Amino acid sequence: MNDNAAIHVEELTERYGDLVAVNGISFTVNKGEIFAFLGPNGAGKTTTVEMLECLRKPTSGKAYVLGYGISKDRENIKKKTGVLPQDFATYERLTVKETIQYFAGMFNSHPDVDGLMKLVDLEDKKDAQFKHLSGGLKQRLGIAVALVNDPELIFLDEPTSGLDPKARHVVWHLIDEFHKQGKTVFLTTHYMEEVEVLADRVGIIYEGKIVALDATEKLISDYGKKNLLVLKKTTPNAVPTIEKLGIKANFDNTSGDVTVHLNHAVAVSDILHELSSADIHYRELQLKRSSLEDVFLNLTGESLGEDDKI
Ligand SMILES: Nc1ncnc2c1ncn2[C@@H]1O[C@H](COP(=O)(O)OP(=O)(O)O)[C@@H](O)[C@H]1O
Ligand SMILES: [Mg+2]
Repeated sequence: MNDNAAIHVEELTERYGDLVAVNGISFTVNKGEIFAFLGPNGAGKTTTVEMLECLRKPTSGKAYVLGYGISKDRENIKKKTGVLPQDFATYERLTVKETIQYFAGMFNSHPDVDGLMKLVDLEDKKDAQFKHLSGGLKQRLGIAVALVNDPELIFLDEPTSGLDPKARHVVWHLIDEFHKQGKTVFLTTHYMEEVEVLADRVGIIYEGKIVALDATEKLISDYGKKNLLVLKKTTPNAVPTIEKLGIKANFDNTSGDVTVHLNHAVAVSDILHELSSADIHYRELQLKRSSLEDVFLNLTGESLGEDDKI
């Protein structure tokens, strides 16, 4: 295990009866990075996080968090890490301030409660009861709670699930601020955009196994489809004109669109130049970049789903 590892996992497995929820996964999270676990519901994300948080004993395998073994060193891990559980909830009747104070008491820590409320922008809501907070505010309070012990590393299990785009961006900002202090973030999510925006590296987890793990951009360039050029409402003779450049093009009879899978050999400007020389017109031009959605589809044959788009 290298000194720079914030989390190191070897062959970690969790069975629930016959179900292998987490199936022999191995990975390392470096100190100071935002690492994301991306996968659909039921992939094994929460089970993994719960093992790393020492809430759940693995069936087999090893894991170290900040150098401490999860089976032996629970106290040290608890002291130095913060946790935002999936669907964070707490006492309905406690106010924002009381909630932070309550969790600080549990950790025997003495945080600057006003400072924490300011950090998550809940000063105005300090006397509001938990039950009266919106989903976004509850998550922000959850993040404040995760920070009461001034942790080196935070686990965030689906921190923006179900939030509207505005609330989601606020949470992203908070995660980024924490990261900027040199802290480590282990995040689970089923939102691809969240990973693309936040994560330095991503592990894609599917049916309990890690099917790919790398820097986000690297995964997209390795497994994504090539970037696409779409010429809307053009004519079929655009195809042979483009193919003169040694690149394949497809005409869709229904839409009248021509699609070109771009590669490094041909520049978009060459294609446009060729079309204009042949006096071929189009209504609109679109460039589509590969995304993690393509990566996921290529690796699993399944889509992470339209519902997950932000
Ligand atoms: N306590 C449990 N008992 C039995 N099965 C469970 C339990 N928790 C999770 N599972 C199952 O384990 C699999 C992985 O679940 P989970 O780790 O919650 O995935 P994710 O967080 O990626 O949605 C799912 O099939 C889920 O139904
Ligand atoms: Mg989960």
